[in-house]
Amino acid sequence: MIKISGNEEVMNFSPAVATPEQTTIFTRKLQDLFEEKGYCYFAVDELETGKFIGFIGFYFQDYESEFTPAVDIGWRLHPDFWGKGYATGGAKACLDYGKDTLKLKKVISTAPQINKPSINVMKKIGMKKKLEFIHPKVKDNERLRNCVCYEIDFQKNPNFDKSYKI
Ligand SMILES: CC(C)(COP(=O)(O)OP(=O)(O)OC[C@H]1O[C@@H](n2cnc3c(N)ncnc32)[C@H](O)[C@@H]1OP(=O)(O)O)[C@@H](O)C(=O)NCCC(=O)NCCS
Repeated sequence: MIKISGNEEVMNFSPAVATPEQTTIFTRKLQDLFEEKGYCYFAVDELETGKFIGFIGFYFQDYESEFTPAVDIGWRLHPDFWGKGYATGGAKACLDYGKDTLKLKKVISTAPQINKPSINVMKKIGMKKKLEFIHPKVKDNERLRNCVCYEIDFQKNPNFDKSYKI
């Protein structure tokens, strides 16, 4: 993960690449979150090769906004593994797990409006656009501050299972 989060192409839609120390601290935070809530941004392996390729999963977001606190779904994969449907497939599996096992009521996802690949994944897994907002964590970054929030509400969408599966 240190290599992936230190890669400029991967972090194109983040304010900066992460240092090894930052990634180590973040990974420990994810382990704590998993202990506390039973979810986190999960490690992703390519099943055919067993290679570690990044993360896909859930995070508890409590920054100030009209839609938080909320559980978000997010993803970050090594570029060698983009364009193979892995983010879409992994995120669908996470939504299944979130709904059936974690009993989450809804899940959100956010991205800068210019991060089209990420927004495409949100659409492909059946999430609907909820609102546009200025992200408080990057409000001084002109390129990244205009963000979009997508949502899937498992209670309001009883046909969720049918609507998102390929
Ligand atoms: C966003 C990100 C996770 C997408 O990962 P990905 O695995 O390439 O996404 P997918 O493969 O599921 O979808 C991407 C494309 O692959 C194509 N694809 C889907 N299934 C496929 C398959 N089985 N075989 C080949 N191509 C496929 C799709 O056509 C899709 O293209 P589209 O987006 O134009 O519709 C990846 O680009 C990434 O890690 N980016 C950097 C981190 C980041 O920005 N995270 C979000 C921060 S807000």
